[in-house]
Amino acid sequence: MADSMIVRALQKRDNQWAFDLWAKMWHDDQVVTQGRIFKLNDLQGFVALSSSERVGLLTYHIDDGQLEIVTLDSLMEGVGIGSTLVDHALSEAKRRKCKRVWLITTNDNTEALRFYQRRGFAIHSLHRGAIEQSRQLKPSIPHVGKHGIPIRDEIELEYLLE
Ligand SMILES: CC(C)(COP(=O)(O)OP(=O)(O)OC[C@H]1O[C@@H](n2cnc3c(N)ncnc32)[C@H](O)[C@@H]1OP(=O)(O)O)[C@@H](O)C(=O)NCCC(=O)NCCS
Repeated sequence: MADSMIVRALQKRDNQWAFDLWAKMWHDDQVVTQGRIFKLNDLQGFVALSSSERVGLLTYHIDDGQLEIVTLDSLMEGVGIGSTLVDHALSEAKRRKCKRVWLITTNDNTEALRFYQRRGFAIHSLHRGAIEQSRQLKPSIPHVGKHGIPIRDEIELEYLLE
């Protein structure tokens, strides 16, 4: 799959698909990280395609020399889609001369913690109880997440480029 996969920038024609994906994966058309609301339209992104079908989406935001991965969704897990999209984000960060790539995941997302650490990211900080504040901005954040674990904390992971 990784060989036959194409990655291109997120474009206007992806809007409906991306909105539907966010609604399914992130329960809304907006995502909150560190007390900031991101709408899909505010973000840049990469779309992974296999046989012309969209199979993954990474969205990001660059600010102050840092690239934040806002969302990453693979529609076919375990065949290299997530890794390829993260590689594109790292290349983009280098191209734009960023010093750091970072992201927030939640305490229930043990798969994401494993996935990112296996790809060279390290835990930067734990924002204990931060989801309560995020929930005030985005009430659709569920109370119980993956594996039946209560969603409470934001975990910040980083990959340093310098
Ligand atoms: C986390 C997530 C993005 C990973 O995406 P993915 O497409 O499954 O990632 P990959 O396929 O690149 O890697 C997953 C595993 O498959 C393995 N793999 C990749 N290509 C492979 C292949 N061709 N054959 C066999 N195994 C393969 C990888 O080695 C990796 O295992 P590892 O973590 O032990 O190294 C995905 O699980 C997801 O969308 N989760 C839901 C949304 C989410 O939580 N996003 C992250 C929070 S921002």
